[in-house]
Amino acid sequence: MSSICVVGIQWGDEGKGKVIDMMSASSDLVVRYSGGNNAGHTVVVGKEKFVLHLLPSGILRPGTKNLIGGGVVVDPWELVKEIEGIRKLGIEVELGKNLFLAWSAHLILPYHRMQDQVMEELRGHGKIGTTGRGIGPAYQDRASRIGLRFSDLADSAVLEKRVDAALSLKNRFLEGLGKAPIDREKLLGDLKEVGRVLLPSGQDVGAMVRTAALEKKEILFEGAQGMMLDVDLGTYPYVTSSSVGPAGIGAAGFPPREVQRVVGVAKAYTTRVGEGPFPTELFEEMGERIRTQGHEFGATTGRPRRCGWFDLVAVRYAVEVAGVDELCLTNLDVLSGISPLKVAVAYEGEGQSFGVYPAGVPGFENLKPHYEELEGWDEDLTSVRSFEELPAAARAYVEFLENGLGVSIPVLSVGPGRNQVIHRGAASNNGSSTKVLGV
Ligand code: IMP
Repeated sequence: MSSICVVGIQWGDEGKGKVIDMMSASSDLVVRYSGGNNAGHTVVVGKEKFVLHLLPSGILRPGTKNLIGGGVVVDPWELVKEIEGIRKLGIEVELGKNLFLAWSAHLILPYHRMQDQVMEELRGHGKIGTTGRGIGPAYQDRASRIGLRFSDLADSAVLEKRVDAALSLKNRFLEGLGKAPIDREKLLGDLKEVGRVLLPSGQDVGAMVRTAALEKKEILFEGAQGMMLDVDLGTYPYVTSSSVGPAGIGAAGFPPREVQRVVGVAKAYTTRVGEGPFPTELFEEMGERIRTQGHEFGATTGRPRRCGWFDLVAVRYAVEVAGVDELCLTNLDVLSGISPLKVAVAYEGEGQSFGVYPAGVPGFENLKPHYEELEGWDEDLTSVRSFEELPAAARAYVEFLENGLGVSIPVLSVGPGRNQVIHRGAASNNGSSTKVLGV
């Protein structure tokens, strides 16, 4: 058996959906372990493009069991919509057969979405630029012990008790903001209705994953967002509200130390949506060029992504804290035609140079990146399938990152399609490439 965690190691949107989709071909179980429908995992299969927000990316593989773990916050109405949408595209989703939802998963309720938006407005210039999906307030209620869990939907009496406990506090909060209180009966009615649809997926996900591990099944843990958005390890407070890295797997009821390999996913440059520090951000023409070439618009909110050069300092830090064993580099094709390419190798400020990411160091925002320049290439990479066929400058770029990060990059992605992948060591284009990362 193998248990692998795939984790983004920048600020999200690294292309994890595609990597997980490739790897899920050989997985028995795919487990989402953190975040919620703030994620947007795009997978292109043939001419169809699927954007998954909550459903694990293994849903596109017949025979794979897809689990949503206890650390995920679930908007039940959005989950139903997503299931219906994906079924319309011809994908089989059968609750309790290929889709399971942890009884312990916390629910995102309509007032969480409202609270998210109101808090953003109140933050003014300090706003985070959240996705507005209620993620932060749902995690906040989990920690405050007034959250509702999926299991609460299974028993009307329990549900009523939990709703009353939550509303006694929530309605006071809303009153303070001059907002109308939540209508208890409507909320209960809506929850019971959505519960009837989703309850067949209810599962003790932790037990299911641990049993699968004992049975030597292939388990893939699907990370959402990226390490630099981790609530503890990222660019706080401009972060999401969950543990993005392998540590978050614990909340799914599986011991993180049993995870055998951690596969990091990084883009060949950097993007970020929302507010917060982004040392290598590019403005004006070059930023616009990368955004246009990379179609860099958010899969969840459609917001234009901020774009910049690859940041070795931040990625090296993320590789270290996530315990990444190997890396998948995506969107290499997007850099064609841009020369020179720059890579941040250190940050500088106040007479100091930081080769190590200065996590939590006061004044981080004022540091400036120190770049090395590398030659670019003009060739279109989208149909290249082996490392040797890449232009020398593209190979040198990958090797530069590999050396700077101290971790191998065995897989490169050169387009959104399932087949637009280069497995390092592959000598030919005949599909008989050496398989690494289990793909
Ligand atoms: P929240 O997760 O909606 O609270 O948003 C907090 C921050 O994380 C914002 O800057 C979001 O843009 C960012 N974020 C959340 N999910 C993703 C994602 O899947 N990709 C990229 N950024 C994300």
